[in-house]
Amino acid sequence: MTDPVVEIRKLCTVFQNGEKTSVVHKDLDLTVERGEVVSLVGGSGTGKTVLLRQILGLETPTRGEITVLGKPAAELGKRGAARRVGMLFQHGALFSAFTVLENIAFPLRELRTLPDGLIREAAMVKLQMVGLGPEVADKMPSDLSGGMIKRVGLARALIMDPPLLLLDEPTSGLDPESADGFCSLLRSLHQGMELTVVLVTHDLDTLFELSTRIAVLADQEVIINDVPEKVVAFPHPFIQAFFLGERGQRAMALLRKRPATV
Ligand SMILES: Nc1ncnc2c1ncn2[C@@H]1O[C@H](COP(=O)(O)OP(=O)(O)OP(=O)(O)O)[C@@H](O)[C@H]1O
Ligand SMILES: [Mg+2]
Repeated sequence: MTDPVVEIRKLCTVFQNGEKTSVVHKDLDLTVERGEVVSLVGGSGTGKTVLLRQILGLETPTRGEITVLGKPAAELGKRGAARRVGMLFQHGALFSAFTVLENIAFPLRELRTLPDGLIREAAMVKLQMVGLGPEVADKMPSDLSGGMIKRVGLARALIMDPPLLLLDEPTSGLDPESADGFCSLLRSLHQGMELTVVLVTHDLDTLFELSTRIAVLADQEVIINDVPEKVVAFPHPFIQAFFLGERGQRAMALLRKRPATV
């Protein structure tokens, strides 16, 4: 039985910059089933970030339908979005004037329904959940390493226990060891929290470590959305260049060693 968390039908996204018209998505279809970890890959500028922002309801497509947890994405609105969908933005996007704990608590505080003590407690739980100690709570973002910033961003994305988590390049800019640590964290959160995850990544290790499916964006559409083994065998120039280089071979070896998921 299918139980889609995200359904995208005939999505078109067109940007008009002065004289120039650029078509980013054209009749794009994508379905994400509950419990999946779907990785979106595609060249730079193929509209991956735009697609995540549309799923979150922050941007409206030119045409087409996006349904998230049974409702039109546009209806998630600004407040509803944080409750049902958590997002880790491509460039961290912590508020530099807020402490770590204030950053994590921000979406909860905006609701104005809980007392301060409870909000602080909930944020402390999430801090621990992403593997950071209580001593980090009162630090400022400028005092943190890249890996810690990603973890704090993740804690903020999870503060409302959303069923759907969107991650834009969660391991970019991290050294290999921190990237591995962050991947393991995501993997255990996914297993422990009944999360559905859509992530964008260029990093093949992250891709093969986490994905139950890979959706490839090319030629303005999703050309294939399938298990990693099927995707790497799909005949398309982008896929061959992306997966069959030296980096790709290394990651494929990892895939063969990986225990089966889902
Ligand atoms: N608000 C906007 N107005 C005009 N053009 C935009 C707007 N937002 C995005 N674009 C364009 O849409 C295209 C897709 O952008 P997007 O940021 O989604 O790419 P991406 O696939 O995430 O790339 P990267 O891998 O580099 O992060 C780009 O050409 C970008 O310049
Ligand atoms: Mg992007």
